[in-house]
Amino acid sequence: MRMMKLFRLLLLSSWNVTVIRTILIVPRNIYLLRLLLIVVGVVLLSGPSHGLTIEAGSSSTQLLDRRRMVSIVGSSLSGVLSLPTSSGAVEVLPSSSPPVTSSSSSSPTKDTITLSNGTPFPLVSFGLQIYNDETAYTLTRMALDVGYKNFFASVLAGNQKGFAKAIKDSGIPRETLFICGSVVSNRVSGYNDAKKLTTIGWKKNMDCFALGDITYLDQIMLDYPGPDCPSIQGQWSAFEEMYQQGLTKTLSVSNFSPTQLDCVLQQATVKPVVNQLPYSVAYHPGESVMENQKRGILVQAWAPLGGSLGGRFSSTMKGVCNEIGKRYGKTYAQVALRWIIQTGASFTTQTKNKQHFQEDLNIFDFELTPEEMVTLSKLA
Ligand SMILES: NC(=O)c1ccc[n+]([C@@H]2O[C@H](COP(=O)([O-])OP(=O)(O)OC[C@H]3O[C@@H](n4cnc5c(N)ncnc54)[C@H](OP(=O)(O)O)[C@@H]3O)[C@@H](O)[C@H]2O)c1
Repeated sequence: MRMMKLFRLLLLSSWNVTVIRTILIVPRNIYLLRLLLIVVGVVLLSGPSHGLTIEAGSSSTQLLDRRRMVSIVGSSLSGVLSLPTSSGAVEVLPSSSPPVTSSSSSSPTKDTITLSNGTPFPLVSFGLQIYNDETAYTLTRMALDVGYKNFFASVLAGNQKGFAKAIKDSGIPRETLFICGSVVSNRVSGYNDAKKLTTIGWKKNMDCFALGDITYLDQIMLDYPGPDCPSIQGQWSAFEEMYQQGLTKTLSVSNFSPTQLDCVLQQATVKPVVNQLPYSVAYHPGESVMENQKRGILVQAWAPLGGSLGGRFSSTMKGVCNEIGKRYGKTYAQVALRWIIQTGASFTTQTKNKQHFQEDLNIFDFELTPEEMVTLSKLA
């Protein structure tokens, strides 16, 4: 037994010595070195310690799981954007240079963009977080007072009724607002089951919103892609029926990778116009804005201030944003949000503080220079 161990050790050490010599002492074997590094990289990335599996649920805990997932993925594989597929797999997008220039679609005073289907879309949205209907009511009234027009009342936040009641009581004409609901239906697979569950989902949205006399939506968002292409297409088909019934003006997705978007686009008669993704000064892997733009889709950032990603804004990042902000009389948050707009995206944010509500909306009277955009882009 001992002899066997000794033999194995010798074999291993001589293999190691040979490899090290081959790599380090013989420089012409540079290609071999590259090959070995790639093999080691692949083994490390596919090993069990990187087994990032996501289980998507249909309750508010799913939002927490999702945050944890993005946080885990972000910290362990920095430089890649990983999006969940409901089969539990994580799709990894290649990293590339961050966006650094001002988007031609943005200008200091333009707070509304036209989506690819011609619908006007306010670039700043209030995305309700998980709290009870009473808090949702109070915060929605606060946001309306401040001037918010775009609202993301997600099914996962669990307070669509409180939101709807606030809209009704505000007396603000419904047609001046942009209201988005959401459906989570990724726990089943297969075209038919995915379609059925998605239909139940959008009908539930309409029931909740009816409490505020909201009879149509400006947008419905498919919060997670199904486990495979047929399931995604089933989900989408249910959304198209909702659209055809005149119950929503636009259709959108959230947390969809380019491959998953293509799955929708292959069959869609009504195309998605928005993809809500984690995106901020602190987290902008890959070329998500460009990949979406290529498909006629606007990125709407969630966690634009790093909120749901576990406070990703380090003190250094805040310091840099603050310094730039001083030149314009703006806070760090305003600079970070303005950066998102100038990269060609939009965002949904949330706060419990009236002053913050005002700040987050008040970012259309200044413009970051290309140099400042470069500095900010390098912070991630
Ligand atoms: N589709 C998805 O998968 C997904 C996932 C997560 C979240 N979301 C949606 O995205 C929304 C926003 O996400 P998030 O919560 O991560 O947002 P966030 O904007 O990144 O973070 C919000 C946090 O920032 C603070 N804040 C806001 N404005 C500020 C300002 N001007 N100055 C300083 N601090 C400020 C707020 O604290 P104060 O209250 O102290 O201001 C809050 O704690 C959510 O509410 C939800 O609707 C979607």
